Amino acid sequence: MKLKPRGYVLYFETLYIRFCSEYLPHECAKMSQDIPFSIEPLPEDENDRIKRDFHGYLSGAVRVQPKGYFFQGIYKDYASSYINFEVHPTDVFVATYPKSGTTWTQEMVWLLVHNLDYEGAKVILDERFPFIEADHVLDPKVFQLPEFRGKIPTECLEPGFWLSLAVKLPHPRTIKTHMPFSLLPPTLLDTCKVIYVARDPRDVVVSYYHHHRMWPTHGFDGDFKTFFRYFLKEQVMWSPFWEHLHEAWELQHHHNLLILTYEDMKKDLPAAITRVAKFLGKSLNKEQLVGLTKHLHIDSMKKNPATNAQAEADLGIMDTKEGGFVREGASGGWSKYFDDKMVKQFEEWMVKEGKGLGHEFKWLQ
Ligand code: A3P
Repeated sequence: MKLKPRGYVLYFETLYIRFCSEYLPHECAKMSQDIPFSIEPLPEDENDRIKRDFHGYLSGAVRVQPKGYFFQGIYKDYASSYINFEVHPTDVFVATYPKSGTTWTQEMVWLLVHNLDYEGAKVILDERFPFIEADHVLDPKVFQLPEFRGKIPTECLEPGFWLSLAVKLPHPRTIKTHMPFSLLPPTLLDTCKVIYVARDPRDVVVSYYHHHRMWPTHGFDGDFKTFFRYFLKEQVMWSPFWEHLHEAWELQHHHNLLILTYEDMKKDLPAAITRVAKFLGKSLNKEQLVGLTKHLHIDSMKKNPATNAQAEADLGIMDTKEGGFVREGASGGWSKYFDDKMVKQFEEWMVKEGKGLGHEFKWLQ
């Protein structure tokens, strides 16, 4: 059944009907601990501070060692499911550190994989291109808070609900993840194609700041300086940013990996589409390329209810005053947010942590 983006009530109800008819709750969320890393809580005082500044992190925060990836506490319920996720050769993953142009790339990839099926692309992107780790981002307990209770049918917050959407998606599956390679199935790249997108971390921190203020699941209402400090301390979800990027870069020569940058996509979108199409074994004629470029323009994606999280806004679970989910889409917008001290601090951080990364990442030069 195809869903029209008419709002999350219909959207969730239909997803839930499908979920119930096909899976048992917990079926996809394997709780076993067969994971090659350790998940450690933060020291109590740090955890208390994080819970105070991020009201949505009701389960506190953890770090995944040895690399130190930072997540909400409920990640531990899903870590095993993610790394044991069964990958299929026709799967296509879009993997990013958050706010790097994931949605933009997902829409491009979905249309290429599905031979420019614009009618099919009217279905909400979350359903066409599930986010495998949404279960540990959308803590069901947040939706039990008085201000959010009842906004989403509670049945849809069953453990493993989002993961199961990815598991059961008709093939060829298109799957979104923000996980670094070390927390994904070790067979991923040898099995299927992955497109990794990176963005100037200065624009990432600004975009991520608005994102955290937009979603009750994060519940951050502090100022930019406060968020900036958290970002530099690697105390935001999916950080450390640099480790995430280095992991991808180390795999750059794998034939199943394509690394893109947000900045290159902004500079020459048709060239980026052509590169991705080639990687996916697709070809577009001139007219098709023009049409897809137009569809992927920020003005179109901002208006498109299948890509702009309109349904969440309508339900009151996303705050649009931060500029909307598809926001400015600029490169270099960070300069309006950083004071001189921040510019210097960030530059030093980039020089130190960016060592060994390629010239593709122009913001490092
Ligand atoms: P800004 O907040 O800087 O505007 P993600 O999808 O990874 O969460 O990334 C979101 C960022 O990508 C946001 O950046 C958003 O505006 C931008 N974006 C989304 N669609 C875009 C498009 N078609 N063109 C350019 N940027 C886009």
